[in-house]
Amino acid sequence: MALPPSFLDELRARTPLAALIGRRTKLTRSARDWKGCCPFHNEKSPSFYVYADHYHCFGCGAHGDAIGFVMQTQNAAFMEAIEQLAAEAGLEVPRASPEAVAAERRRADLHDVLAAAASNFQARLMTAEGRPALDYLRKRGLTEDTIRRFGLGYSGAGRGALAADLAREGIEQLQLVEAGLMKQAEDGRMVDLFYGRVMFPIRDPRGRAISFGGRIMNDGQPKYLNGPETALFSKRRTLYGLDLAKLELAKARKPATSDGKRQGLVVVEGYMDVIALAQAGFPAVAPLGTALTSEQLDALWQQDERPVFCFDGDSAGRKAGRRVIGLALPLLTPERSLGVVVLPEGEDPDTVVGRRGRQGMADELTRDELGSAIYGLIKDEIGPASPEGWARLRNRLDETSKSIPDRALADTYRTTLRDRWYADKGAQSRGAFKQKQDRGPWKSAPPARLIGVRPRMSDETTEHERGRVLLAILLAHPILLPDLDEPLEMLDLPEPLAQLRAAMGAWLASHPILDSEALNAHLRRLGLDMVVSAVLDARPLPAGAMPEAAPADAAYQWWQIYGFMRGPHIEADLRVAERDFVADPTEANQRRLIALTQSWNRVRRGETDATV
Ligand code: UTP
Ligand code: MN
Repeated sequence: MALPPSFLDELRARTPLAALIGRRTKLTRSARDWKGCCPFHNEKSPSFYVYADHYHCFGCGAHGDAIGFVMQTQNAAFMEAIEQLAAEAGLEVPRASPEAVAAERRRADLHDVLAAAASNFQARLMTAEGRPALDYLRKRGLTEDTIRRFGLGYSGAGRGALAADLAREGIEQLQLVEAGLMKQAEDGRMVDLFYGRVMFPIRDPRGRAISFGGRIMNDGQPKYLNGPETALFSKRRTLYGLDLAKLELAKARKPATSDGKRQGLVVVEGYMDVIALAQAGFPAVAPLGTALTSEQLDALWQQDERPVFCFDGDSAGRKAGRRVIGLALPLLTPERSLGVVVLPEGEDPDTVVGRRGRQGMADELTRDELGSAIYGLIKDEIGPASPEGWARLRNRLDETSKSIPDRALADTYRTTLRDRWYADKGAQSRGAFKQKQDRGPWKSAPPARLIGVRPRMSDETTEHERGRVLLAILLAHPILLPDLDEPLEMLDLPEPLAQLRAAMGAWLASHPILDSEALNAHLRRLGLDMVVSAVLDARPLPAGAMPEAAPADAAYQWWQIYGFMRGPHIEADLRVAERDFVADPTEANQRRLIALTQSWNRVRRGETDATV
């Protein structure tokens, strides 16, 4: 029975070859591929390589794809291997109904139609009629060789020209409609979809045209027109340029040249970006003007375990970047990762190569660190300008790293992102704090009428004192940190208290066991012992800061003091606390609500402190 090639492609795409072969022989990483001892002959040192879509033994010459591997190792017939792999991949093997056979036949015909159209457009580019299109492509810096390799063409200016040409090859208008090249106008006439455009054939991974994109040569709209979905063309499954990029990657993948330095797959946003990068020697692909799909991401990972995404330096590019991160992180594993680069404002890969050449692009691609891109893109979206904004940013960063299913990986990202956040926020607030000091208002703050908390340092304000007590409570009861570090971040703490807070927050992010001694040891290692002593020497500390206090009481006291420190914001805090308690009536939420209510009442009565 003849199986449709589309089914076999799907089956291969859904069968991770390294996992399949790894059941038979132990594989280890070799650059981007895998190697191990050949399961087909006896050997002591590995000469068996597994690539994204095939394996090859340099010892005995065994070679094949997933289907071949099952056939060879299990002595299975072709259909048996198919049935087994399909079952594992969760695919239904298509039965050879007359309809299925007919559909496959139509698809084959459709390939011929598209191939004929592609040649027609290509030939037309080289005629007098196509001259403006050829000039356009040259002006955009493309060489003859590039134009040929990408099969670029010209659509023709008038309507019906393509149909007339192809009719001579026995192709009917209806077939051109099925191929997505013609459509029926409202008045019933058949019209060309593309006219007056530079034509970019969109090809499947085997290099066969399955649709077209067409660019207008002036600044008319739409700039690009893409073919509709057809039996052959599915936008969500296709990557522009994959056929050529695959060849380039395969060339570089031979073990002899795998020096670890070769250029991996670059993912960009537009047709011209793919072409400009390819011309500069970077294997590149792009989705088709729509947001990247998980099918496309799978196809990328089939080719390269760490494709590098390169986004345009504009708001659309940054938005696309955030979408890709949202899509990719839940699928991330130690073997499947990605790099992300956002280009400088106003640039796309085509302009970078045009202005700064291959090296300019290579330089941009060195900034492909995922953590840094995640941080930059999320910060760009939130634009933290207030303590609440910074807190929101940190929440989003935490949520983002949580979306990685691999625990160890998620922890690494959480720590990296928090470190960045602390460093960034610290730099920001040091700047802001310095400004404040320069202006001097905190020196001229009203004299503190502190009840019960003394002695104070000579230049200490009430705020400073309260901040110190809050930190002292947390030093004694780090178990409270997960609940309290978010409100703590809202406070405008002076140095060196802000530094201590940052260190405690970072410690919380990376240390699952919240033990007071461990925290103090950690802070000492960071050279913060002086700050810790200054905090703890604020005697007498409130009961909650004593190690023997019950954590619940300590939390209660903490919230009271916090309420005072928040001053005018306390009403908003109270509303949040109410909402949280209604949504989640835990004891901790109840304590927080009561404590804040008390502080609020006392603030309204004009009392100045809650630490009695
Ligand atoms: P860009 O406008 O960034 O394309 O759109 P580009 O490649 O830089 O185009 P040039 O340099 O001006 O020629 C990125 C992609 O979005 C899709 C196309 O796939 C394009 O390559 N697009 C854009 C459309 O489908 N339609 C449009 O009108 C514009
Ligand atoms: Mn461009």
